[in-house]
Amino acid sequence: MKGIILAGGHGTRLYPVTQQISKQLLPIYDKPMIYYPLCTLMHAGIREILVITTPQESNIFKELLKTGEQWGIELSYATQAKPRGIAEAFIIGESFIGSDSVCLILGDNILHGDNLSTRLQQVKKQNQDSTIFGYYVSDPERYGVIEFDKDDKPINIIEKPHTFISNYAVIGLYFYNNEVVKIAKNLIPSLRGELEISDINQYYLDQKKLHVEKLGRGIAWLDTGTHKSLLDASNFIYVLEQRQGLKIGSPEEVAWRMGYISADKLEVLAKPQIKSGYGKYLIALLN
Ligand code: DAU
Repeated sequence: MKGIILAGGHGTRLYPVTQQISKQLLPIYDKPMIYYPLCTLMHAGIREILVITTPQESNIFKELLKTGEQWGIELSYATQAKPRGIAEAFIIGESFIGSDSVCLILGDNILHGDNLSTRLQQVKKQNQDSTIFGYYVSDPERYGVIEFDKDDKPINIIEKPHTFISNYAVIGLYFYNNEVVKIAKNLIPSLRGELEISDINQYYLDQKKLHVEKLGRGIAWLDTGTHKSLLDASNFIYVLEQRQGLKIGSPEEVAWRMGYISADKLEVLAKPQIKSGYGKYLIALLN
């Protein structure tokens, strides 16, 4: 299975902060935002990952994340000229995906919780036609939303519904079979001019090929779409990291724990980062 991180977009809801820098490069407490979705894919056991960015910022992402070899993964890069919709990721990534299945994560989605790694690895292994995740939120109108029937079966996926249909938002993590490339290519842009990920999900649902997993309250799903949610996400990471003395979203640590890199390699990665404390943390893991 291949992985894609979609990290383009104008980030206009965060202006002026994102006027000159991609949202996904902003810090979430002590790490660049993109580290978190990257770690989610690494936790799922996905090691071949395409990072899609704006053309203007492509080089900054490449300098930050490099080839991925340092973390025992393989990173490739592509650009999206304009934010023409999340589903365009599968068209841009067509040759990268090849004949594989694919997992897409949005570069501003942060997931944390007990057993998440095992759960994602199971989803990957189950190899369903498609799997999306529903998360109970108080403000569903901000998201793609899943409507369920009385037997709790999904019956509709609606992007930013104007009237209430359910509290279950679709999080920005999607697993699809290879058919998704063809589906994306046949999409018609929505009224807001985007290739909608919700239309892909509705297509799988209509074909009875959509598997929906609900995430319970033991999992934190944070998005960073507004100044407030960005600060909330930083505070959340700060509080947990301070309390436990363990970091969330460190690719070095995940690579080492997943067995992608050796202890020696972890030490090498830690040394240039000693001054920020991040490196000290990585060294301490070895002891
Ligand atoms: O966060 C989950 C939600 O993400 C889902 O519930 C929605 O169904 C889905 O449409 C999306 O909603 P948003 O309103 O949050 O999408 P937004 O336009 O903010 O884009 C999400 C991220 O994807 C953002 O970091 C920018 C990036 N993006 C977005 C578009 C439309 C791109 O890189 N390219 C794009 O063309």
